[in-house]
This record gives sequence, structure tokens and C-alpha cells, in this order.
Amino acid sequence: MSAFTPEEIQALRSRFPILGRTVHGKPLVYLDNAATSQMPNSVIEAVREFDRTKHANVHRGVHQLSQEATDVHEGSRDRLAKFLNARRREEIVLTRGCTESINLVANTWGRQNLRSKDVVLVSQIEHHANIVPWQLIGNQTGSTVVPIPVLDDTSLDQDAFLKLLEGAAGPVKLLAIQHVSNAFGTIHPVVEMIRLARARGIATLVDGAQSVPHFAVDVQALDCDFLVFSGHKMHAPTGTGVLYGKFEVLDALGPWQGGGDMIDKVSFSGTTFHEVPYRFEAGTPNFTAAAGFTAALDFLEEVGMEKIHDRDTELVAYAHQELSTVPGLKILGTHLPKAGVVSFVLDGIHPYDAGMFLDQMGIAVRTGHHCAQPAMERFGVPGTIRASFAMFTTETEIDTLVEGVRRVNKILGGR
Ligand code: ALA
Repeated sequence: MSAFTPEEIQALRSRFPILGRTVHGKPLVYLDNAATSQMPNSVIEAVREFDRTKHANVHRGVHQLSQEATDVHEGSRDRLAKFLNARRREEIVLTRGCTESINLVANTWGRQNLRSKDVVLVSQIEHHANIVPWQLIGNQTGSTVVPIPVLDDTSLDQDAFLKLLEGAAGPVKLLAIQHVSNAFGTIHPVVEMIRLARARGIATLVDGAQSVPHFAVDVQALDCDFLVFSGHKMHAPTGTGVLYGKFEVLDALGPWQGGGDMIDKVSFSGTTFHEVPYRFEAGTPNFTAAAGFTAALDFLEEVGMEKIHDRDTELVAYAHQELSTVPGLKILGTHLPKAGVVSFVLDGIHPYDAGMFLDQMGIAVRTGHHCAQPAMERFGVPGTIRASFAMFTTETEIDTLVEGVRRVNKILGGR
């Protein structure tokens, strides 16, 4: 039985106004949800309503508007804590996105804890956002970034991981690992990997950019020190992000960015800092978008995270089956389970060329290296064509993609 009836999918689609538009005269087939997700009416309206009736700076005024805006902003923190099953609301740091969250950890925890020759373990198919901040902090601390190799099906080589944990490349201080590969959709067994790391006293960070939007993520069950993700990939507005950190871990960290609201007392003889999480939230936050973040979480929970994951599984299976019939097409990322991503290459055809042809047919996919150049290097390709799904994606849209790919194959590949 399908996760949703056809009527339920149509009802879901009707909540996303952008799905009604055309591109190059064709109905939009939006298969780029891993790059950014679309916003339902309830999220768009929540932001509009906030701006119409409550727009004021937060934490800074005794006037009524500021109080109401602060309630909305802090309400999103409460809502996020509940969504992730965090122990305390103070464990939720509101950032501008997943990338900022990782940079925050690198510049606070990393600066305080990494020493010369220490190893930060990442996966070989990591997003640049979970590689470069560790390289930058390594330039200051002398620590290095070491990749856990992946097998041909894009799963992580667990034997190699164990050897690395045991110090094969140096003493490991941090396991910083993607939960789901943005390039291939592979879901990694992070619960077990975190358990193995923690048993050796190694700190852990999970990049949840592609997992938190697609299935229920419980930080207490994960038992990671840090979890990071963005709002814009989970139907919330852009410029929103989260750093979850265990309270005692966050509480031991000094500040990163300096500015308003992160301080306790400022004087020219010295400054003391605010408590967690405000210590990490310098400057005016994206309070308008916070209203939308809460609405996005309401939307996701109303649809049901379990059903969203089940629907992903159906769509991935269908896309694998149909795309496999196309001559010269190779899927990268055959290891299951996956979140809603299918990545493939066409023999002799550059992904960018394919992407431009598909665009002319109204099909939005991402083509290129997906901000994961080492992943592309691992598989010896310049990039892939990536279709990524949401709960409103239909089999008919996947058929349109397959038909489009066949035409690209004929025009550019002569097949
Ligand atoms: N990280 C985003 C993606 O995978 C932008 O497309």
C-alpha cells in the first residue's frame, strides 16, 4: 500500500502554489528538493502575517510588538526542541543555515579542542560545508581532515572506519559525518557509528541537512554531541538553520561571532558573555523567517515524518526501476536505504548539457558536483544528474523525467 493515496498527493500538491506554474511553456516538474524545498501556503502566510502584524526586533524592546515578535522567535526554538526530542530548549541554537552551524562548531569547539595532528573524520562523499570549515580550522590548530572511504555502492567502508577510529591516520578527536549523502541519497548508519566513536571518547557531529527533512531524527536516540541542518530544505524560509548541541557541550564553549545580544556585560576593560544558546546568536536574527520555520514543522508533522520516509522509499524504488531501462544510464548510489535522491550519469553526455535540455522540458534537476567534489572524484565523473523528491512528487513526474532523459540520450548521445 502506498504511503499516500493519489487524492492525498493531489491535496498536498495544491498546498504548494509554485507547483501550479509553467516553465518554458511546460508544467513545472520540480525534482530539485535536495537543493531547496518549496514552501506550502501555510509557511508563506505565516511569514506574511508576522510581517503584517508583528514585525519588530526581538529580545530588545519592552514594547508590545517586540514582545510578540520575541514570543514567535522563541516559540520556534521550543518547536524545534520538541521536533528533535532535545532535552532542553537551550540546546537549540538558531543560525542562518547548516553551513553557518558547522562553522560555528569549528570555530568554537574546534578551536578549543583540536590540537596538532588530531584527526577530524568525515566521509569521502561529504558536502563541502562539512569539509572546508575543518580544513580552515586545521590551518590554525594543525589538525587534519581524513575521509572514511566509500564502497562502489556509496555506502561507507565500515572496516576502514574502524581502523581509522583505532588511530590508523592519527588520534581521532571528532567524527563529523553526513547522515544522508546529498549527492547520492545514501542513508549512513550513524547511530552505530556514533556509538563506536563515543565508546572511544570521540566527539560527534551529524550533518542532518538531508535527513531531518526526510525522516524523524531524535537527538537523544542519536546521542550525538552536535546536529546541524537548514530550514530551507524542510519547507521553511531561507536564512534559517539549527545547531543542536548537548547542553553541557555547548555550555563549555566560548563565543564565536561578537555583537549584540550575545553578551552579558560590555565595557572597555572587558566583556562577559550571555548564557547558552544566546552566546552563539550575535546580531539581529532572522526573526521573520522563524515564524515560517514553526509553520514548516507543523506542516511536516501534520503530513507525518514516517509517511514522508515511506513515500521517499517508494519514489526511489520507482525511479531506480524506470531509469535503469534507459540505455547508457548508470545510477550512482545503489546502496539502500536512501532518502529521496537518485543520482545518475549518461554515457558520453555531460551532466550540464543534459540539465539544460531537461530544463527546456520544464524539468528542474540539479546537475554538477553538488558541492561534493571529492565524491565525484571518487567515482571518476565530473558530476551527475540528480533528481530529488518531496512528498508531493508523483510517479508521473518521474515518467516525465525518464522520457526527458530518453530524448537527451537520442539528441546528444545518438542512442
Ligand atoms: N546542498 C544543496 C544540494 O545538495 C545545495 O543541492
